[in-house]
Amino acid sequence: MSAHDAQAVILAAGKGTRMRSARAKVLHPLLGVPLLDHVVRAVQAAGIDPVTIVVGHQADAVEAAFGGRGLAFARQDPPLGTGHAVQAARAQLATYPTRTVLVINGDVPLLRGETLEALLEAHRAGGAAATLLSVVLDDPAEYGRVVREPDGSVRAIVENKDASAQEKRVHEINAGIYAFETRPLLEALEQLRPQNAQGEYYLTDVVGLLRKAGHRVDALPAADSREALGVNSHSELAAAARQLRQRRCEALMAAGVGIEDPDTTVIGPAVEVEADALLRAFTVLEGRTRVAAGAVVGPFVRIIDSEVGPGAQILDHSLLRECVVGEGATVGPFAHVRPESRIGPRARVGNFVELKKTQLGDGSKVPHLSYIGDATIGPGVNIGAGTITCNYDGTHKHATRIEAGVFVGSDSTLVAPLTIGEGAYIAAGSAITEDVPPGALALGRARQVIKKGWAEARRQQKAGADRGSRGGSGGA
Ligand code: UD1
Ligand code: CA
Repeated sequence: MSAHDAQAVILAAGKGTRMRSARAKVLHPLLGVPLLDHVVRAVQAAGIDPVTIVVGHQADAVEAAFGGRGLAFARQDPPLGTGHAVQAARAQLATYPTRTVLVINGDVPLLRGETLEALLEAHRAGGAAATLLSVVLDDPAEYGRVVREPDGSVRAIVENKDASAQEKRVHEINAGIYAFETRPLLEALEQLRPQNAQGEYYLTDVVGLLRKAGHRVDALPAADSREALGVNSHSELAAAARQLRQRRCEALMAAGVGIEDPDTTVIGPAVEVEADALLRAFTVLEGRTRVAAGAVVGPFVRIIDSEVGPGAQILDHSLLRECVVGEGATVGPFAHVRPESRIGPRARVGNFVELKKTQLGDGSKVPHLSYIGDATIGPGVNIGAGTITCNYDGTHKHATRIEAGVFVGSDSTLVAPLTIGEGAYIAAGSAITEDVPPGALALGRARQVIKKGWAEARRQQKAGADRGSRGGSGGA
């Protein structure tokens, strides 16, 4: 049977009190994307559709963060517990009353699509009304305990806060990931009551209610216990990040990517890295970044939503966002490449250079200490050290166009709007305010003046003045 016979409901309405944060828990960033994003990815990787997200706390922000991804939303206001959250998705559930529904806590970012497929398979093979994913932990901590019958079926899930001393000794815990038959689930939800230590409508109480109605509930122990890690605090968020980093780096290395130090390499879930790229220590790749074969990135580099071409080098301490780096180009050390920049093949952006919305042609160089913004630079151009494009007049941004083969001398100030024609030269130290025709030399600086013997004359003048102030007395 395919996953397409199942739908999913993800619970993401809770406040996340234990984070002690004004921000909704599911929106806290984990490898550059919201915590909830990892859960959504796992569900979509398993091919499950439709997916409904139950939102409540900061509902607008959560919906905005997950818009345009083919997800449905249900509102739970105010959030009164995980069972109450599933009740909020009643309408969505009732649309497909004969399907299996996966109900998943929104705070389990280590969950993988394969695990959901395995859960669905076990659920269908077992024929129970509900099958929950469980995990055996040395320290069951705050998790709900899975209490089994002698025949192996599940009698109840008992929340830690409601557990007896004997129940607390159970090491098999509820991962917060469940497969339910929709109709019995809907019926059990009607009977939920908030009679427990937290005064909440617990989804976990559905287990007992299903049994009372004569249904069977099974539990599938997860193959990898780490997958059940629920993130409730910043400490657990950091632990999840550690696991996800490790998992991702292992997969990339197995596929042929060089990773110098997996412990300090952060790679977002939507990032792609080709075999034979090398990621050096403390590299952070986020968003839709792609790194091609033969590229070397790092150490200490952060790249967001950018493309790094084959064989390109992004050197130490560079920050790149929404840009494209061509084949064999070099960026950094200490470069800042801002959105809408395209660095051509074999081009070079050196240290302490900031590029914004700039196209740098094939083989062109901006090697040192420059700000280049709103510029289109042709191939074979050399921009001298300290060159600045003055692209902003306080109100508007203006463009600079520098054609092929231009040589801009060091410390030049290029006041936009401006065009420098093909093959022209700009003398060092110039302030260029007017277009320069192709092949011309432009000088935009005061002519140098030489005053011969000026230093000696000044020394003598100063000595005379000193004698005068001492009134002629003393002296050898
Ligand atoms: C829950 C389970 C517990 C299990 C653990 C696994 C219950 C009662 N307990 O506990 O058995 O071991 O997960 O991690 O379900 N949420 C809502 N609306 C609410 C409350 C919560 O949408 O009114 C969402 C939260 O945003 C969160 C998820 O449900 O994503 C789980 O809620 P949380 O409060 O973290 O449950 P736990 O106490 O961890
Ligand atoms: Ca939790």
